Amino acid sequence: MCGIVGYTGAGQAAPVLLDGLSKLEYRGYDSAGIAVRDGEAEPVIVKEKGRIADLKKKIGSEDNVIGTCGIGHTRWATHGAPSETNAHPHHSDDNAVVGVHNGIIENYEEIRAKLKKKGYEFYSQTDTECIIKLVDYYYKKYQETPIEAIARAILRVRGSYALCLMFADYPGEIFCARNGSPMIIGMTGEDAFVASDVPAILNYTRHVYYIDNMEMAHLKKGGVEFFNIDGDRIEKELVEIKWDAEAAEKGGYEHFMLKEIHEQPKAVEDTIHSVVKDGNRIDLSGVGLSEEEIKKISQIYIVACGSAYHVGVSSQYVLEDLAGIPVRVELASEFRYRSMPLLQDALAIIISQSGETADSLEALRKMKASGIKTLAIVNVVGSSIAREADHVFYTLAGPEIAVATTKAYSTQLVANDLLAIEFGRVRGLLTDEEAYRLVEEVKSIPEKIATILEDKNRIQWFASKFANAHDIFFIGRGIDYATCMEGSLKCKEISYIHSEAYAAGELKHGTISLVEEGTLVIGVCTQSEVFEKTVSNMVETASRGAYLMGLTTEDNYSLEDVARFTVFVPKVDEHFSTSLAVVPLQLLGYYISLARGLDVDKPRNLAKSVTVE
Ligand code: AGP
Repeated sequence: MCGIVGYTGAGQAAPVLLDGLSKLEYRGYDSAGIAVRDGEAEPVIVKEKGRIADLKKKIGSEDNVIGTCGIGHTRWATHGAPSETNAHPHHSDDNAVVGVHNGIIENYEEIRAKLKKKGYEFYSQTDTECIIKLVDYYYKKYQETPIEAIARAILRVRGSYALCLMFADYPGEIFCARNGSPMIIGMTGEDAFVASDVPAILNYTRHVYYIDNMEMAHLKKGGVEFFNIDGDRIEKELVEIKWDAEAAEKGGYEHFMLKEIHEQPKAVEDTIHSVVKDGNRIDLSGVGLSEEEIKKISQIYIVACGSAYHVGVSSQYVLEDLAGIPVRVELASEFRYRSMPLLQDALAIIISQSGETADSLEALRKMKASGIKTLAIVNVVGSSIAREADHVFYTLAGPEIAVATTKAYSTQLVANDLLAIEFGRVRGLLTDEEAYRLVEEVKSIPEKIATILEDKNRIQWFASKFANAHDIFFIGRGIDYATCMEGSLKCKEISYIHSEAYAAGELKHGTISLVEEGTLVIGVCTQSEVFEKTVSNMVETASRGAYLMGLTTEDNYSLEDVARFTVFVPKVDEHFSTSLAVVPLQLLGYYISLARGLDVDKPRNLAKSVTVE
């Protein structure tokens, strides 16, 4: 979604802003802009619809944007169409306040109406213009400092935001505030940076401060100060970012997605080793869950969005079977508006790569407010969900740049597998030996994923054959159905081909009428208990003209008698089969998108981190 970069210091601001914005491109955006100030001069604001490259073209020479203080933004339209006018930065009528904003101001219409009565005019459809003009209004009315005026404004607005402002009366200074949207401040020597996400400033510093909700920051050359909502100075802890800047580069791969698919063996292995100690013992002390707490759990609620939700759907089978705890998996966007009776001895598991997904964050808050213990499975250290949850299991996928998740998804799966094994052992459903054997199976996953990746050319060939398909159906039962959901999402989000994941037994209750001559039906069959059943459902579609692709484990060679193209993945304990079966489906989505000449890493209309409802 939207991205923010700000800089003030000894160097020129524009190159830092443009570099930072380009590092945030992966989040998805439709327009971009910067405002740069040279000493006391008025800021130069340049905005453009489209890509950063279009903005750079419009700026022309960097001599056109001279100055050591500036703010920049990539916008993903929420209020008002993507256009140069709606792009940020926005400004008050006399340029006294210029700013950029991430998130949504829910009561912007009310603010706009109030300000109109006071004589303000509005040139854009954005909520951002409203908050900037509100700050300007308070700043002038009460003759206050910028921090006081911002505090007054944020007490008035409802919604989530990260806000970065420059005031005409304060050359070389940037003022920031946040509530709900991520924001970090970095310092090195005389240079101060602000950004909505770590990659934007990783080239310059790896020491950052995280601003909490309803806090503000004041940046100037050589220093930064933090304030609470009362305007009192507060101290913040400097945190070191351990990511490697190189990890956020493509490293020779054509796309981030392909690179990240190939990083899965290492990401999964690192995540396993973060909790599996000598002798295959699972140690959850870092996660903070004690054996007493585990024994008390009467119900698990898994709440997440998109692919993270699909992880939940797959993991429910594993948790119920190995740990004997009933599991409900909820879409965060639905859960947050539902009045569902919650069991008090429950554990809520919130799964999120970014740790900033608005619906997942609200679901977490709702769980906490209901007195439910929360455990976050999160990839981004220091993210909102990680900070607000009672317990955190960090996946070690490293930075994931492609919008379509792959390696984060895979690490979330093994994190849940290990929780299920340990819960089962602690609660007496598994002996130490059984738990040991299952951990061995989980530990075999990285190498097996690497084997699947060696066979990617076959999938590429098949993908090019179906690059123009109209519809694709993914069918399976149980855990295989969960794998289908992710395979289908991978396909549609980057290839723009309509696809559906269907529980194979449900097909004949309606959906099979969509199958016609040549429709691609992919049957996932890794679960021995329902293997024959799914194969029968595949045959039913073939009788109506479907072209069948089968996906199963080595040894199930009989599937080749039914399917016209079959992919085999190595055998693993069937509880963990999603970890392997999903990989050919990730490759299929990738190669179809590639064959169609689409923007694989930045698919249309999508953002990496969905920080609005
Ligand atoms: C999947 O490829 C998508 N990018 C999307 O469904 C994603 O999984 C979802 O938005 C949740 O994001 P999160 O893990 O950062 O919370």
